[in-house]
Amino acid sequence: MDIRDGVALVTGGASGLGLATARELHDQGAKVIILDLPSSTGQVLAKELGENVVFAAADVRSESEVAAALSEAAHLRPLRIVVNCAGIGNGIKTVGKHGPFPLVDFAKVVNINLIGTFNVIRLAAERISSNQPVGEERGVIINTASVAAFDG
Ligand SMILES: NC(=O)c1ccc[n+]([C@@H]2O[C@H](COP(=O)([O-])OP(=O)(O)OC[C@H]3O[C@@H](n4cnc5c(N)ncnc54)[C@H](O)[C@@H]3O)[C@@H](O)[C@H]2O)c1
Repeated sequence: MDIRDGVALVTGGASGLGLATARELHDQGAKVIILDLPSSTGQVLAKELGENVVFAAADVRSESEVAAALSEAAHLRPLRIVVNCAGIGNGIKTVGKHGPFPLVDFAKVVNINLIGTFNVIRLAAERISSNQPVGEERGVIINTASVAAFDG
């Protein structure tokens, strides 16, 4: 796929894996949407990276906010690339000195890392599926995970 042909949306694009991905896609010639929380540094970074990078403030758990970010992408060029990097970690033990893992913290990780990621996947896939194919491809969705999955 020629990535200069479309828009790439990177969730969690204001930091860490997402920021590195956004920079790389930008350097390779893609238009990039950094989707991240309003409290993130996404707006500043987008300005710093230049006119081919746009910040969309959104929480991956929100249907309406993710849909708005995808609409913003569609105004620029067809959405062809989505990279899911938004996520949080949680170093709490199942049972520690202060008792069992608080369920509210576990639910937060599941809501952002699992349900939020799937929210982006499903809404982006709907848009990508209506793209004209380039060769045999309409687009690509890439999800990141953790080696910690194998530790539990
Ligand atoms: N960095 C690593 O080596 C590594 C390795 C394995 C897994 N992970 C996991 O990958 C994910 C990203 O890691 P990172 O190091 O880039 O973290 P990071 O904290 O540097 O970046 C995560 C980004 O996601 C954003 N974010 C968090 N919740 C969000 C939400 N609800 N909606 C939208 N954006 C949200 C944050 O604002 C932040 O900009 C985390 O879940 C982390 O646990 C990281």
